[in-house]
Amino acid sequence: MDTKYLEIDENHIDMDKIRLAGQIIKDGGLVAFPTETVYGLGGDGLNAASSNKIYSAKGRPSDNPLIIHIAKFDDLYKIADEVPQSAIKLAGSYWPGPLTMIFKKKAIVPLETTGGLNTVAVRFPSHKVAQEFIKAAGGFVAAPSANLSGRPSPTTAGHVREDMDGRIDAIIDAGSCDIGLESTIIDFTQGIPMMLRPGYVSEKMLRDVLGQVDKDPAVFGNTLTDAKPKAPGMKYRHYAPKGNLTIVSGDREAVISYIKDRLSETKDRKKGVIVCHDSVDEYKAADFIGDIGERDDEATIAARLFDLLRRCDDEGIEEIYSEEFDTPQLGLAIMNRLIKAAGHQIIKV
Ligand code: TXA
Ligand code: MG
Repeated sequence: MDTKYLEIDENHIDMDKIRLAGQIIKDGGLVAFPTETVYGLGGDGLNAASSNKIYSAKGRPSDNPLIIHIAKFDDLYKIADEVPQSAIKLAGSYWPGPLTMIFKKKAIVPLETTGGLNTVAVRFPSHKVAQEFIKAAGGFVAAPSANLSGRPSPTTAGHVREDMDGRIDAIIDAGSCDIGLESTIIDFTQGIPMMLRPGYVSEKMLRDVLGQVDKDPAVFGNTLTDAKPKAPGMKYRHYAPKGNLTIVSGDREAVISYIKDRLSETKDRKKGVIVCHDSVDEYKAADFIGDIGERDDEATIAARLFDLLRRCDDEGIEEIYSEEFDTPQLGLAIMNRLIKAAGHQIIKV
């Protein structure tokens, strides 16, 4: 398949390209599109065949449900049942934005889209190109992140091209995503709202609006348990670079000294680091130095993480050492992705 590239400027949206992209979705095809979190791999969320195509383009197990993206609040009621007041209040604060909410699904939503579940995940993104595209596509765009299953989520159209060129009909390129980590997911289908995936909207931001919030213990627990995560996707190994990634946790000086020792140990493997700007000079011995930004600039750390994991692959890095980025608002979301990428390999020094 010949993948079309549609460059669109968020500040001067070319509606001809939007209509073209929308028509591809209405015809049952797939289009990758930008959002404020990561790029999505879109298909018609109300068309079972489109959802099946998404699973096969991504190489994703079909029991892992897709998020339906809307661009008008009231469209929520066409696909979701039993929407509680608390969810409407939360939407008032964070929609459009990096927040996904789960409700009982209406019959119009095919089970193929929801991975066989009777619930549906819904998000109203704030990215202007995403909103115009969703409207042109008929209003209900099912989209997982636009990476091949197991690879880091794409934060640029170039990342999408690496994984999806020739596998989908078109890619809308509107530059890099602002946030760079996937949305926060919260489940409203059983009593107290439960956070299933951390994201830009933090636990504190959710509590400030909702009061009580539970967290899925299988995702947020400190110890590894056999409990099954409630968001099926959280059980798969994700975001993994090809190299062996180790997170080094501890005081700054101890971390630097540990990583420097590893870098100087042997020269037979290509080694890389993912570290804060203030320590890059310490790691001159590395084959790849991923500067993730200033230690107190968590927005930049979040935005660069997936790109740096991909760049380690591009450089053929076999051993990767990362510092820990335990920042105030986004730290939980950043570390959730990094720990998964490392397959839980963390060394305390
Ligand atoms: O920021 C985002 O959320 C991006 C952009 C494109 O919107 N999308 C995204 O989709 O990250 P994906 O498919 O990579 O991750 C969606 C997660 C998966 O872990 C999936 O299992 C979970 O949401 N999920 C979807 N529907 C669900 C449902 N009905 N119940 C529980 N978990 C659900
Ligand atoms: Mg994903």
